[in-house]
Amino acid sequence: MTVDIAVIPAAGRGTRMRPATRVVPKALLTVVDRPAIQYAVEEAARAGAKEAILIVDLEVGHLVHQHFVNTDRLPGLEHIKIRTVVQEEPLGLGHAVLEAERVVAHRPFMCILADDIVRPGQDVLTKLIDASDDGSSVVCIQEMTPEVIVTKGAVIPTSDLVDGVMSIGGAVEKPDASAIPSLYGVLGRYVFQPEIFEHLADLEPGRGGEIQLTDAMNQLGLVGRLKGAITDQEFLDVGNPLGLLRASMVLGSHQFPEFADIARSELGLG
Ligand code: UTP
Repeated sequence: MTVDIAVIPAAGRGTRMRPATRVVPKALLTVVDRPAIQYAVEEAARAGAKEAILIVDLEVGHLVHQHFVNTDRLPGLEHIKIRTVVQEEPLGLGHAVLEAERVVAHRPFMCILADDIVRPGQDVLTKLIDASDDGSSVVCIQEMTPEVIVTKGAVIPTSDLVDGVMSIGGAVEKPDASAIPSLYGVLGRYVFQPEIFEHLADLEPGRGGEIQLTDAMNQLGLVGRLKGAITDQEFLDVGNPLGLLRASMVLGSHQFPEFADIARSELGLG
């Protein structure tokens, strides 16, 4: 199956990156030589997306829009049409995804959280797309330690792993340490069937008063239409200062091999 459209929610407040995000949207913070969100668009294009829908906020979202004006000649962006949709209020990740409904319509779509940048050569979306062939929605999962999983989300497995894919009944956002359903954590890569929009539209605000994507995924899990596809690749989380610094070094070393010398001589690394 091919999935030709990607939704990239980028309307969050980015409070963990203050003061950098007082004016500049988190999605536009530079990682080496391009804004974080550009990595997500490039990843979508590599997975076959012809269109990327960026969900941006009302106040500074126009800056994200402007960044992508006339980028169709940039390497990696030649074959993807990029457009922005405004989420007028930050009512949650689920609400942000629902904003894409009119553009996506009845198509399956990829969903990419741009805070997590995939390491060079370690793309996972094609695996998720393959696992969605039977009409399921698929979330990317990874084995995590209890300490990490309580800060993320843990899935509820309903089958064994077969060829790296399992059926799941849903997920628990930031589970209590005493009630972790599994050590398979959720990463910010998904392939959704369009039915997710019906569930999102029906949701009441959940955890934190926000419309939670996890709550809609749980509805899919209830009817056996949700799967997890495992990866052992660690993503680079640029949504917090230390993660951004680390990602800059990892991606910078990849892009500029001479950075390894600098890291050795200036920082004593390596
Ligand atoms: P986060 O939970 O990381 O929130 O959102 P945030 O606001 O971006 O960052 P912090 O925690 O305040 O530092 C997860 C993803 O959902 C998007 C964010 O842009 C991010 O990609 N999101 C969240 C929206 O698009 N809209 C929302 O209302 C909430």
